[in-house]
Amino acid sequence: MRRLVVIAATALGLVAVLSQGPVSANGRPPAVQDQSLKALAARHNLVIGTAISNDALAEPQYKAIATQQFSSVTHENAMKWESLEPTRGTYNWAPADALIDFARKNNQKVRGHVLVWHNQLPTWLTEGVANGTISKTELRDLLKKHITTVVKRYKGKIWHWDVVNEAASDPWDTPSEIHLKGFWAQNLGPTYIADAFRWARAADPHALLFYNDYNMEAFGDRGPSDKVWFIYNLIKNLRAQGVPIDGFGSQGHLGTQYGNFDAFQVKETLDAFSDLGMVSAFTEVDVRSQMTAGVQAGDTNEINPRLQASAHNFSVLLQACLLNRHCLSYTVWGFTDKHSWVPTWFTNPPEGLATLYDENYQPKRAYNSIKSDLIFAGPPHVQPRPRR
Ligand code: XIL
Repeated sequence: MRRLVVIAATALGLVAVLSQGPVSANGRPPAVQDQSLKALAARHNLVIGTAISNDALAEPQYKAIATQQFSSVTHENAMKWESLEPTRGTYNWAPADALIDFARKNNQKVRGHVLVWHNQLPTWLTEGVANGTISKTELRDLLKKHITTVVKRYKGKIWHWDVVNEAASDPWDTPSEIHLKGFWAQNLGPTYIADAFRWARAADPHALLFYNDYNMEAFGDRGPSDKVWFIYNLIKNLRAQGVPIDGFGSQGHLGTQYGNFDAFQVKETLDAFSDLGMVSAFTEVDVRSQMTAGVQAGDTNEINPRLQASAHNFSVLLQACLLNRHCLSYTVWGFTDKHSWVPTWFTNPPEGLATLYDENYQPKRAYNSIKSDLIFAGPPHVQPRPRR
């Protein structure tokens, strides 16, 4: 009898646990073992990624966070053309291979970055075109060869490829009407975009192929100077012609000094692209701030509002991504202020404080904001993404 009572009581306890979730003696839920970003995001089938600098990976603290927090990695520079083929015909695969191996060991996906971009091209290529020793026909062949060689080498190992990066002008350019610009458009004309996606598809039919760009958060007035509208129509037309563009990559380089967005504006953009049948991703998120004299002197009156605004912007992009089931991943462009491109790139005025961790690898408010977004999100508005 006593045994039966014990069994019944145990069963009842189990039912209570299953229906309400476990609660410990002090009334709090028990500490969940793994509260890393990647573990919390897994519930949503969302992948959390980071750009990785090969040099920084030598630091144990950097390596530990890269492994523990992120379910995907991107080569910050090692897969750019100038890194892969610094001398014509001589490839330097080792740094790119190293991160591919790192990702495999840590069960991480890889976002391949980048196949076609006007920056960080090898000088033999840009000089050859400038001095006429490389003709336009040869340039097109070289691009095809580059895409084919790189994509085939990593076939089956790359989840998403950023095939074309930053092809469009900005409203502050002249003319302000958005247009295709840069090295590739100038030398090959607009058809290079369709070519690049077709070549990439032929080389690896399973990788998801992305168009990637910055200032893509929200539609503006849908007029001639609205970059999001321009890219949306460009992709829509290319897809209508059968060009294999699967994904819309929104870089997400934001600054606290600008008028920013709310999650619903950003979601509307993701919805527009998913309505075309596409997936999306935030690919390079960071939120920089101006390093005024006060910030540099450690004045908390100036630092605190920046850290808060930065956290809010990280959160807005993640919330928008969570709200659209076709948004597959959220990648930050480096995770620590110790190794961020911002201070070296944005110098006048100086900018910084752009990442999730400070220079001593301590998580900042931004880290906790996106962590809480992942914890709080759930049905009905946030549903797990279908696996891709
Ligand atoms: C940046 C890297 O972070 C820097 O280390 C490098 O000096 C310049 O490029 N958009 C992109 C990325 O698509 O490739 C850029 O990365 C940042 C802007």
